[in-house]
Amino acid sequence: MSAIPVPEVRISADKLHVYVRRIFESAGSLAREAELVADHLIAANLAGHDSHGVGMIPRYVAALGLQELQLNAHARVVRDFGAVLTVEGGRGLGQVIAHEAMAHGIERARKLGIAAVGLRDSHHIGRIGHWAEQCARAGLASFHFVNVAGDAFVAPLGGMDRRFGTNPFCAAFPRAGQPPLVLDFATSGIAFGKTRVAYNKGETVGPGNLIDHTGRPSIEPKVMHEPPFGALLPFGGHKGSGLAVMCEILAGAMAGGVTTHERTLVTGSGIINGMMSVIVDPQAFDAPDAQAETEAFVEWIRATRLAPDGDPIQLPGEPERRRQTERALHGIPVDATTWEQIRCAALTAGMPPEEVGRRTVDYAD
Ligand SMILES: NC(=O)c1ccc[n+]([C@@H]2O[C@H](COP(=O)([O-])OP(=O)(O)OC[C@H]3O[C@@H](n4cnc5c(N)ncnc54)[C@H](O)[C@@H]3O)[C@@H](O)[C@H]2O)c1
Repeated sequence: MSAIPVPEVRISADKLHVYVRRIFESAGSLAREAELVADHLIAANLAGHDSHGVGMIPRYVAALGLQELQLNAHARVVRDFGAVLTVEGGRGLGQVIAHEAMAHGIERARKLGIAAVGLRDSHHIGRIGHWAEQCARAGLASFHFVNVAGDAFVAPLGGMDRRFGTNPFCAAFPRAGQPPLVLDFATSGIAFGKTRVAYNKGETVGPGNLIDHTGRPSIEPKVMHEPPFGALLPFGGHKGSGLAVMCEILAGAMAGGVTTHERTLVTGSGIINGMMSVIVDPQAFDAPDAQAETEAFVEWIRATRLAPDGDPIQLPGEPERRRQTERALHGIPVDATTWEQIRCAALTAGMPPEEVGRRTVDYAD
């Protein structure tokens, strides 16, 4: 049985943005870094992915204390092979490192039509759609394979031991005069952070996503947060399990980082991401009808009859935009447990107690 659900309040994105910036500035981040981190975390919350929003702060602050995360680090191109760049993240804040790595890739894709960026050894790069959106704003399509090096949470199809991370995959295509199509998901049935959000709220998760330590199906997020530990399952049977493997190889091994195995298992609070991004300029193809063909296909999909009790048809990226509109208007929901964890992290980061405040309700609109 899960605990009784904890209350939550809504906090405006602007207020939360200032609070997050102050936490990182207090920890020692320069203003630009604190701003990029706040931009990313708040954008993830606005998109509805609370798993990758402000609830990550306690883990980042813990990683900082253990020196598993470096402040004010920058992405460093360690090999320039024309269309192929290898970028070292130096365990810097992923919100800065990935932003800079994408900027390098965008510049190169504009020049050559295509760029592959292998990013290694970055601290957590959060919601991958954020990086695809950065490319899409520059008019570029992209796809991204990501590994969570040494963070074994997911059992391979048929197994019961944790063998790899929640290894996300993301692909995006920019549309003329419309928001881009952005497909972005963990290759586990749900992201690990979603088990944290459910655990903090005292809720269960959907069936088919977790097994307990005996390998039996579970809907209790505590199997990921209290010993004896279980595991997440890949989505879609062999397809999700296989995609996770390819993410690990392309983002971990090929891009010069590490894969998950006995010698690379992470025991502290740091989260190390590798990412292999391919960034493409659609204008480089002989495809004058690319946008018209895209819109014709979108219309064709939307014109389907709905299945009985079927959800409305949505395109990749639409659920995030809907939630963004709603949350920009009504605020970001933060539960009391998560807020308490963030408050403690803020104090640990050195934020003055009078700025830290006490309860969510002090910040609620
Ligand atoms: N940095 C890391 O190490 C790491 C690891 C795992 C996941 N993540 C991030 O976690 C986030 C959440 O992942 P998730 O697996 O929980 O995502 P999810 O299961 O919510 O799937 C999200 C994707 O599916 C699309 N989608 C959802 N409902 C839809 C519908 N009804 N119709 C059409 N499309 C729909 C969304 O637009 C989006 O592209 C992602 O942003 C991912 O990048 C990051």
